[in-house]
Amino acid sequence: MLITLEGIEGSGKTTQIDYIASYFQKFGLDYIITKEPGGTVIGEKIRSILLDPGNINIHPMTELLLYAADRVQHIKELINPMIESGKIVICDRFYDSTTVYQGFTRGIDISLIQQLNRLVLEGLAPDMTFILDLNPEIGLKRAWKQINDGSRSESETRFENEKLQFHESVRNGYLALARQEPDRFVVVDASMDPVKVGEKILEHLGRCLEKQK
Ligand code: TMP
Repeated sequence: MLITLEGIEGSGKTTQIDYIASYFQKFGLDYIITKEPGGTVIGEKIRSILLDPGNINIHPMTELLLYAADRVQHIKELINPMIESGKIVICDRFYDSTTVYQGFTRGIDISLIQQLNRLVLEGLAPDMTFILDLNPEIGLKRAWKQINDGSRSESETRFENEKLQFHESVRNGYLALARQEPDRFVVVDASMDPVKVGEKILEHLGRCLEKQK
């Protein structure tokens, strides 16, 4: 099983992943937590290029292909073997981030992104995707607070440096995706207290696991 979390910067994905992990732990379910970009050693190197605030001249197509390269390595080296061994994979961002950031927001043709996805994914798709929906003004404030207090790396701020309009487009992109695939996406209001957000996510997860029994 593959579960993915998506959302703008500062939407609280890391906290919610911890809640999901404790839930699986409680029920003795085997899981791993991973992320994109940077879920493998090679991916970490790609991540540092992608998020380096100094790389302002990176071409949108270079950006797209680096995310795709990170994903191929991640799927082949980690995600597929883990799913095959029966583990639940919880992934912080996946290909929906590419559709939304590089497609909707940077303006790369969505059909080209879908073509690239097909090549990279070879049929792999998340079983469920949680979108942590948040007003970007709040998300960016939270993200910069974490960067300034050192809990998030200053060397990974290329996207946080983008204008508010960029992040508004990302948010709208996610909501548009959720409307297109209502069976896979669960949109959760991330402006609530994190414990409440976690409760909503676990409620849904519990129902889905029950159905699979
Ligand atoms: P994060 O690990 O803090 O979420 O940062 C990853 C950044 O990379 C985030 O700003 C979203 C961006 N991103 C894309 O633009 N495209 C992608 O395909 C992925 C996975 C992430």
